Amino acid sequence: MSLKEKIDMDKLPRHIAVIMDGNGRWAKKRSKLRIFGHENGVVSVRETAEAAAELGIEYLTLYAFSTENWNRPRREIEALMGLLLRTISKETKTLHENNISLQAIGDLRSLNKKTYSHLMKAIEDTSHHTRMKLILALSYSSRYELVEATKMIAEKVKRGEIDADDINEQTVTDHLFTKDSPDPELLIRTSGEYRISNFLLWQLAYTELYFTDKLWPDFRKEDLYEAIINFQNRERRFGRTSEQVSEK
Ligand code: IPE
Ligand code: IPE
Ligand code: MG
Repeated sequence: MSLKEKIDMDKLPRHIAVIMDGNGRWAKKRSKLRIFGHENGVVSVRETAEAAAELGIEYLTLYAFSTENWNRPRREIEALMGLLLRTISKETKTLHENNISLQAIGDLRSLNKKTYSHLMKAIEDTSHHTRMKLILALSYSSRYELVEATKMIAEKVKRGEIDADDINEQTVTDHLFTKDSPDPELLIRTSGEYRISNFLLWQLAYTELYFTDKLWPDFRKEDLYEAIINFQNRERRFGRTSEQVSEK
């Protein structure tokens, strides 16, 4: 029985999020520059997106560049932005072939103009695709997102559109970049790091976390299958007791 066959197709997560980490270490192991790792990480993005779409995952969110990543050496940032631009242009074909629509979350205006406009075009050109939404987190940080949401809500209160007493969890959810997608059921982080690194702090409240030592450029379809099978063997209790959950 192959790994893929072990997946229970009736218990698929709707939304998977991935912190794609370990590109630099992957390159270092090969005595190459860090960007070589990022370039090879693109293969893993393609494999993961294809595998997720083939299975019927509805949303795949990939953490590609954090707000804090702007603090990296300028050379690496420039190389990463160049790679992003080339990848968007080159991979739009893969998106069309797989009926995948592209979306992005983060402080997108902070990307350089050319990257931003290519990104917007790819989002627009693929917006009619329905099999899966591929959401890139770019210049993203969860605290930034929460601050922006807070500002928007405060403005609405000021204008009298919302009563402060009526603010609830749904109000916050509705003002996040992620307002159009459900919370991820599964988060995968590669490279053996056990942290969230400012990613989807609100949305991950009840997400199952899966960590693998694999470095991102080595991540393949089988690794996604393994993560999903692991997820399917967990009991999601949402604060209830095990007995209550199994009674259902
Ligand atoms: C993840 O790989 C990609 C980005 C953060 C852009 P890293 O570049 O963080 O690789 P490591 O963690 O240094 O190995
Ligand atoms: C998290 O990886 C961000 C992305 C994968 C884009 P980092 O490599 O930047 O995270 P830290 O700094 O090790 O926490
Ligand atoms: Mg890293």
